Amino acid sequence: MGASIAKNSAATASVSASTVTAKPNDSFIPIVDEIRNLAADDFNEDPVAHAKLLSKIHALQLASETPLETIYRIGHQSWQNAAIKVALDLGIFDVLVAREPRPVGGDELASIRGADVVLVALGLCAEVGVGLYVANAKTTIMTVPQGITSFQFWVDMAMPAAAQLPDYLRANSYQNPHDNKTTAFARAFGSEFWTWLKQNPRYSTTFNGFMASRREGRPSWFDIYPVEQELSGPEKENTVTLVEIGGNQGHDLVNLKAKYPNLQGAMVLQDLPDVVAKAKFNDANIVAMGHNFFDPQPIKHAHAYHFRAIFHDWSDADCVRILTRTARAMKAGFSKLLISEFVLADAETALFPASLDLQMMGLHAGMERSESQWRGLLREAGLEVVRVWRRAVVVGGECVVEARLR
Ligand SMILES: C[S@@+](CC[C@H](N)C(=O)[O-])C[C@H]1O[C@@H](n2cnc3c(N)ncnc32)[C@H](O)[C@@H]1O
Repeated sequence: MGASIAKNSAATASVSASTVTAKPNDSFIPIVDEIRNLAADDFNEDPVAHAKLLSKIHALQLASETPLETIYRIGHQSWQNAAIKVALDLGIFDVLVAREPRPVGGDELASIRGADVVLVALGLCAEVGVGLYVANAKTTIMTVPQGITSFQFWVDMAMPAAAQLPDYLRANSYQNPHDNKTTAFARAFGSEFWTWLKQNPRYSTTFNGFMASRREGRPSWFDIYPVEQELSGPEKENTVTLVEIGGNQGHDLVNLKAKYPNLQGAMVLQDLPDVVAKAKFNDANIVAMGHNFFDPQPIKHAHAYHFRAIFHDWSDADCVRILTRTARAMKAGFSKLLISEFVLADAETALFPASLDLQMMGLHAGMERSESQWRGLLREAGLEVVRVWRRAVVVGGECVVEARLR
């Protein structure tokens, strides 16, 4: 949606003690009752109740904290993320999980002063005696790619860019950026994100691992979109069923075929040449192709062209360029364009997509978009929305936007 960043006015007025330590009023008491009811439904595996429960717990924390407590909790997050990354680098989570259920002494962990304490306070392991640590239910995720590559990406690549965002915006008169060569990321790292990744293979491996693992355990686009019903038809024998554009090393295609092994027709993975160079498939129906999505789409008249988490990396003008290239390859009345991304709610956007929107601005001059923004982009590229497929439980969550030629 693009961030609306207001200029700060210098806070020069003196503040009374109550400004920082004001006891909350009793507004949190009704929230406690709501939480009790939602917790019972969540226990019975109602996903709507689960989402609402987390939101109410957050509301309860805010309603219970003094303003000072709130800003200290938020303000120290960057150091806490740094502590987690140090623990990863030192293999602390691996040691804790290997030793489970027995505890490990802090002196055995090759840790640094304070890091273990932060991990306990964050709930990523437990303390069972003075200086004695043990894995808990959250520790194992920090030993698998989803936890490891996420923190490598967030701390090594996103945090330095985030730290540059305020200065970047001040220097650019608080205008939303449109050029991915001049971003907060470029200010921190000296070049545009994709170029920098190509020049830094170690980080490129991390990033590709993060892309492949980050949605494990969460619904994918083909859990929302009725693939078998929509991607089969009389022409399928002669056509490519799906072109996965910007599909990284093909993790989504592999998962799609695992879920729908009988899905007929060829599938083509496209990404930058050095990214697809390492893609390997056991399925003869999946082929990899180096392709820059700013060039004309070489696969004509496919049944579907799918983009996941691509357009939020780009400005509106670049998105229209990419979409136009795709539209020119589509067959009227047959080809479908599928976009898997967040469709932001018009109001009360959840915290994660809101901060992802900022991340896209800081890394790429990109943004998350609302339904009306998606409709506008597609219209400009000669396309129209057929339907926005959503999971019933999520308001403002990841959706599949289906479009066709106008
Ligand atoms: C945010 S990742 C999304 C990857 C994958 N679709 C997913 O959702 O996991 C963006 C992808 O776009 C690719 N990409 C960036 N610029 C590209 C370009 N000009 N042409 C083709 N792919 C590009 C990157 O290599 C990366 O794999």
